[in-house]
Amino acid sequence: MLFDFETLSTQERYKLLVSTVVPRPIAWVVTQDLGGRLNAAPYSFFNVFSADPPVVVFGIGGRKPGDTKDTGQNIRETGQFTVCLVNQETAKPMNITAIDFPPEVDELAEAGLTTLPSTRVKPPRIAESPVALECERFMIIELNTDRALVLGRVVAMHVRDDCVLDAARCYIDTPKLDLIGRLHGGGWYSRTSDSFELPRIPLEAWKTTT
Ligand SMILES: Cc1cc2nc3c(=O)[nH]c(=O)nc-3n(C[C@H](O)[C@H](O)[C@H](O)COP(=O)(O)O)c2cc1C
Repeated sequence: MLFDFETLSTQERYKLLVSTVVPRPIAWVVTQDLGGRLNAAPYSFFNVFSADPPVVVFGIGGRKPGDTKDTGQNIRETGQFTVCLVNQETAKPMNITAIDFPPEVDELAEAGLTTLPSTRVKPPRIAESPVALECERFMIIELNTDRALVLGRVVAMHVRDDCVLDAARCYIDTPKLDLIGRLHGGGWYSRTSDSFELPRIPLEAWKTTT
């Protein structure tokens, strides 16, 4: 079946993309407004795209024309945010922070979550999250009047102590992080526990097999 994106509505394109490009990691983004008011929300149009410079990207879709949500507004104003990652344990509180609260509501308090200070940026990180990336705005790409891509330069990273195997070698116990991904529809998620190994094949090894 061919779907011609030129003739589809925004909602139809959205449904096709999020039903197929799965699983998507979830950026749980913490920001502050100019007055220091906290904000947190999940964004699953998200991934890491470069290690040098270390860049993460997430996409904000507006609620209405000219509106890129509180997260986008705060990053435009302050240039700083943290990206926390979501594990099985924090899935439910994460979902609470996605409720369409007005800007004055602290979603973290609503979800019963606590914060820890960041070291290089003002917005704190979510204490219950096993990984947090401290980010500075690298670039914002306006896709149209109500959609934007936020590129963040990662300036520091926190990993829960019991998930670090060897700090000097940067070895992380990834399965222990128990991270989740977003799947299709409005409420489906995947675990990362069903993994398998497929080592890369060096060209020389490939040549000897063919
Ligand atoms: C798992 C999950 C992933 C989401 N991903 C996105 C996303 O990639 N882009 C987006 O604009 N909204 C996304 N949302 C919806 C926002 O989290 C929601 O609109 C939130 O209220 C925005 O909060 P804010 O105005 O404080 O930034 C997602 C919601 C959930 C539950």
